[in-house]
Amino acid sequence: MHEEPVVRVRGLRKAYGAREAVQGIDLDVHRGEIVALLGPNGAGKTTTIKILATLLKPSYGEARIDGLSVGPVNARQVRSVIGYVPDYFGSYEDMVVLEYLEFFAATYDIHGKKRKQVIDDVLSLTDLSYKADAEVNSLSRGMQQRLSLARVLLHDPKVLLLDEPASGLDPRARIEIRELLKELHRMGKTILISSHILLELADFCTTIGIIERGKMVFTGTVREILERAKVGLVVNVGVAANAASAAEVIKLLPGVIGVETFDGEVRVSLDPKLGDPSLIAHKLVTQGYKLTRLDEERVNLETAFMRLTKGLVQ
Ligand SMILES: Nc1ncnc2c1ncn2[C@@H]1O[C@H](COP(=O)(O)OP(=O)(O)O)[C@@H](O)[C@H]1O
Ligand SMILES: [Mg+2]
Repeated sequence: MHEEPVVRVRGLRKAYGAREAVQGIDLDVHRGEIVALLGPNGAGKTTTIKILATLLKPSYGEARIDGLSVGPVNARQVRSVIGYVPDYFGSYEDMVVLEYLEFFAATYDIHGKKRKQVIDDVLSLTDLSYKADAEVNSLSRGMQQRLSLARVLLHDPKVLLLDEPASGLDPRARIEIRELLKELHRMGKTILISSHILLELADFCTTIGIIERGKMVFTGTVREILERAKVGLVVNVGVAANAASAAEVIKLLPGVIGVETFDGEVRVSLDPKLGDPSLIAHKLVTQGYKLTRLDEERVNLETAFMRLTKGLVQ
């Protein structure tokens, strides 16, 4: 039996006057998935997310969250199952972190002992306990982004709608946000996240939807994107010793198109349909090689993304 997706969007359209920002989008996010909405600026990501967050009315089409039709009738109920983080962080003059969270907890009707507990929990989850008494406006952008997440976790929502949570962050803050998102995923949250940078999300999203000028041009896994764009997969494999003989072992695996050895590493080209990087790791380890590194080359993913968004591939 198929479970209804937690987020289900069908034929969604939104026009601002004559400009049609969203032109018929379909999207499913199943329970426990992290789905990335990926596309250049102006593609319609924010508009789509705002509709799901009950902040904008669609011109046509349907959006459902947790079985509820997203619209004025159910707005309150929908808001109780979502945590929405917009792409901007407001200004909170003279407010410290604790007051900020207390304020939002009150708006969710969380009071008394429970409020203290919940606030302690979200502060600790987002690694901000030590900033409880700091002024919100004094926090770095990365900390403010984590505080936004802390705020939307107060009412323990099932679904997180995150609009460009990593944009404008320095590399370290970006890594911290990624780790936090992975943790939320492990906790069972269903996450829809937007970004205009593919590499920010590629390695931990279960599905990627590529959106371009208001239309979804592709949905699938990272592997499927590579397949569709007919871009080969390149995997760099490091072994502690005997790279040349490791290369011979790898050569015999299914889907391997080519191997090159340099600097004690093996560069493996794979057919994205047949090849499987985890098979390389498994084979080498069972044959007694000590793996020091195995990672997929990112440049191919960028190429695939460009091809898909330029309409070079159907
Ligand atoms: N309030 C608005 N009024 C008019 N046009 C808008 C408004 N908000 C967004 N747009 C336009 O809609 C398109 C999609 O915008 P948006 O959803 O913000 O895209 P993204 O988040 O992918 O950058 C853009 O062309 C943008 O200029
Ligand atoms: Mg946007």
